[in-house]
Amino acid sequence: KASPRIRKVVGSLIQHLHDFLRENEVTVEEWLAGVDLINQAGRISDDKRNEGQLLCDVLGIESLVDEITYKVATDAPDEPTATAILGPFWRKDAPRRNMGDTIVFEIDNGDNTLMSGTVTDFVTGKPIEGAELDVWHTAPNGLYEQQDPNQPDMNLRGRFTTGKDGKYHFYCLRPTSYPIPDDGPSGKLLQLLDRHPMRPAHIHFILSAPGYKPLVTQIFDRRDKYITNDSVFAVKDSLIVDFEPFKGDPKADFKLDYDFRLASY
Ligand code: DHB
Ligand code: FE
Repeated sequence: KASPRIRKVVGSLIQHLHDFLRENEVTVEEWLAGVDLINQAGRISDDKRNEGQLLCDVLGIESLVDEITYKVATDAPDEPTATAILGPFWRKDAPRRNMGDTIVFEIDNGDNTLMSGTVTDFVTGKPIEGAELDVWHTAPNGLYEQQDPNQPDMNLRGRFTTGKDGKYHFYCLRPTSYPIPDDGPSGKLLQLLDRHPMRPAHIHFILSAPGYKPLVTQIFDRRDKYITNDSVFAVKDSLIVDFEPFKGDPKADFKLDYDFRLASY
């Protein structure tokens, strides 16, 4: 028996799709091209490549759904940290690492960065103990570890857990802008629209803590040339950060501070 929600949502989808077809007088030939695009996306997808999600992303669907789902996060300093899309490259079970560890292995051409901050309750401002920070980003060649046979498994990923003071710190890289995988139907679509495939440099996070709503987000490098022109529309003002040149630590060329504010259930 169809649930009322499914009935409503699918009914509405069909209505809007039919309106779209009528409004644009879509032909059989054009429809078949669309079917082909979807089939092609399915064909090249596997557990390392999620072309369906990528297609949604270049159409702005994931970023809009993020906005609709988490509308409490309004980009204001007295609100929880703003959310951003998960994207297709998160992996579960990233290695747990000790506070102060690095997530960078077998890469010597990156800008090493010491990232640190505090995880707090957005209402009370109190530090959250036992908050897990799951982080991932690309290598300087623009590839996530699972896309790149030359990186060790789970490179540039890690999970860190805060102590009593809610603080965290670890070493990572200052990331680089890079193209989303554009050798499939998503790339084709971008090309047909004269759009570029670039994402501004970013670092992904999922924060979770007992009693708190999980926070999926990304931070973005203010100096990146694509900061106002993200191919998947994920940038929000409060998620833009400054990497500061850093002296006195042989392990880092840059320092980045960012605090996360979580909302309790
Ligand atoms: C997408 C998101 C990412 O974070 C990324 O690195 C590449 C692509 C996306 O939304 O499609
Ligand atoms: Fe990403």
